[in-house]
Amino acid sequence: MTAIDEQTARRAAFPPGFVWGTATSAYQIEGAAAEDGRGPSIWDTFCAIPGVVADAASGDHACDHYHRWEEDLDLLTGLGTGAYRFSLAWPRVFPTGYGQPDRRGLDFYRRLADGLRDRGITPFATLYHWDLPQGLEDRGGWRERDTALRFADYAAVVHEALGDAVPYWITLNEPYCSSIVGYGEGRHAPGAREGHGALAAAHHLLLGHGLAVARLRERAGPEEQIGITLNMSPTVAGTGAPEDVAAARRMDLMVNRQFTEPLLGGRYAEDLAEVYGPISDLSFQREGDLEIIGAPVDFLGVNYYYRLHAVAAPYAEADPARRTACDLGARTVEPAAPRTSGLGWVVEPRGLYDTLSGLAARYPGLPPVYITENGYGDRGELDDQGRIAYLADHLAVTGDAIAAGVDVRGYFCWSLIDNFEWARGYDARFGLVHVDYRTQARTPKASYGWFRDYIADAGTGR
Ligand code: FCB
Repeated sequence: MTAIDEQTARRAAFPPGFVWGTATSAYQIEGAAAEDGRGPSIWDTFCAIPGVVADAASGDHACDHYHRWEEDLDLLTGLGTGAYRFSLAWPRVFPTGYGQPDRRGLDFYRRLADGLRDRGITPFATLYHWDLPQGLEDRGGWRERDTALRFADYAAVVHEALGDAVPYWITLNEPYCSSIVGYGEGRHAPGAREGHGALAAAHHLLLGHGLAVARLRERAGPEEQIGITLNMSPTVAGTGAPEDVAAARRMDLMVNRQFTEPLLGGRYAEDLAEVYGPISDLSFQREGDLEIIGAPVDFLGVNYYYRLHAVAAPYAEADPARRTACDLGARTVEPAAPRTSGLGWVVEPRGLYDTLSGLAARYPGLPPVYITENGYGDRGELDDQGRIAYLADHLAVTGDAIAAGVDVRGYFCWSLIDNFEWARGYDARFGLVHVDYRTQARTPKASYGWFRDYIADAGTGR
């Protein structure tokens, strides 16, 4: 462990106006899955498949935020955060993904955005946090170019309804997870294990982002800011052996550069065709797509949880034509004597520093960065000292990155409240506030008070 991983006590300096917030997403907290015309999403379908989600859990009820949103916004007031990141459920707005929007869905988000503004909290709205309408998946989902077009239409309709209330727009949350984890690894909805299909999904998500940016720009006022959120996991070789270094580079391509290069560099990653050529002809790439995808954004959202340590491993499938997009001849290993979270995730704050400084070094025109997620999972302790230490250390290295010249404008803790943690169900808890899922009682944890005090010292940056 290096010094940078052991800095719990150190306080960072944040510039004036630095934005403090927490983040959530629709499917993870809202519940009310069949209310007010909401259509099914791929996550509703996926959760119904036996054995894919822990304890056969689903987001059907989740935290019942759809009804308890005012109580949840009051928790934000108590925390003193100046901003809140939430997502809209596409199938609440378009129950099948396209056609006529349902007013009732849009009205819910209107109430939410107005409720935030009434409390002096700036809304950061994410348009897509993984809950694709099942109606679009039935037509091929993100494998199909048409889904990117439908996404842009959805973005325009949402902006029409909320543009005067939401100043910050995030098109996609973590396209790596939506494409490679959902269509390649099959661990997330829709649970596919494909090669070409997963790579097409990654491309079409990026295209959908670019098309949505254009539609939002047409409508946005001068103050509105448009961006995208990527999950970044700096990838390091488990040993210095050339085959492990090469394996780490392939993993870095899959997780990070596949997305950052077209978005921020205006090019496909230089090794994309070489690494993925054997499993896909990449025929989904069309002339002009890079210009659409690489259109300037006003900010980049970065979600950081951990680094990846990679070594070479045998391919699962000998025949390249049958490989999935995550069958790369690489596997992750744990570093020696790791510090771990309550879920066993390796805790390495320096990975956040490396992510921020690495982005600034690689992309000279890097837009301002918001850390749109960072947080600690455990099984639900109220005296959550592990979470406090995690947040303190990641905030310390964020301060280091700012001091080193990276333009970081804000930090959103994942998450405000415990919620449905995807394939892990309700067992994994990331909230500053505990949720009793039987009674829906909210109980602030020790970290809630700690974060409140930390922000009060640093300034809320509204
Ligand atoms: C991120 C997701 C978020 C949450 C955290 C723990 O990858 O964006 O929804 O599940 O991980």
